[in-house]
Amino acid sequence: MKKITIAIDGHSSTGKSTLAKHLAKTLDYIYVDSGAMYRAVTLFAIENHFIDENNFDKDALISNIESVTIEIKNEGTFPTVLFLNNKEVSSKIRGMEVSNLVSKVAALPEVRKCLVREQRRMGEQKGIVMDGRDIGTVVFPKAELKIFMTASAQIRAQRRYDELIAKGETVVFDEVYENITSRDQKDSTRADSPLTQANDARVLDNTNLTQSQQYTIVMDWIKALID
Ligand code: DC
Repeated sequence: MKKITIAIDGHSSTGKSTLAKHLAKTLDYIYVDSGAMYRAVTLFAIENHFIDENNFDKDALISNIESVTIEIKNEGTFPTVLFLNNKEVSSKIRGMEVSNLVSKVAALPEVRKCLVREQRRMGEQKGIVMDGRDIGTVVFPKAELKIFMTASAQIRAQRRYDELIAKGETVVFDEVYENITSRDQKDSTRADSPLTQANDARVLDNTNLTQSQQYTIVMDWIKALID
């Protein structure tokens, strides 16, 4: 059966990773959560004191970016098991500290260049589902299937809040809502590779769709492409 490239982009907390992982499992494709890679670089910047909520030494991060190694151990699972310079940081990259700073790091062209190069390498053989913000527009502009996911900010914040509470984190709903809307704003307005819908992307608004309904819709799209 023909192997294709599936690019999933969209707003924060629209369930891109959940859908991507499910598709990859069914199709026996590689799954790559590109957001986890931006989160890992952000954690690297925090741990090296290049960034905090008030300061950002961009030059220091840029001059050290080539020393960052990111290894996704078991592509195909979510949350992604990720090693930053040989240290397992899978949960750390999901915390609020990283979430609040990642948009600043992801806005740096030097960081994007480095990660996009790595993402393209992962997709050389096709048979990949990658989710992020610029996958269909920049990383794989020739992807056979591009999906743009969206949902109301209220429902996305509620989903993320429920997820964090279930993990035992102490969070306030308004803080989660604020983080989601401010990341939308920053991701969509940055100069380099902003979050935009590719012209040939299919929109999946899941405000009122269950996970299984979304999966069925997308599998129908895929079947029509690979059969
Ligand atoms: O998908 P996520 O929320 O884990 O992504 C974390 C941040 O990384 C998000 O605010 C935007 C950024 N990102 C990006 O700029 N480009 C990507 N391909 C993936 C994520």
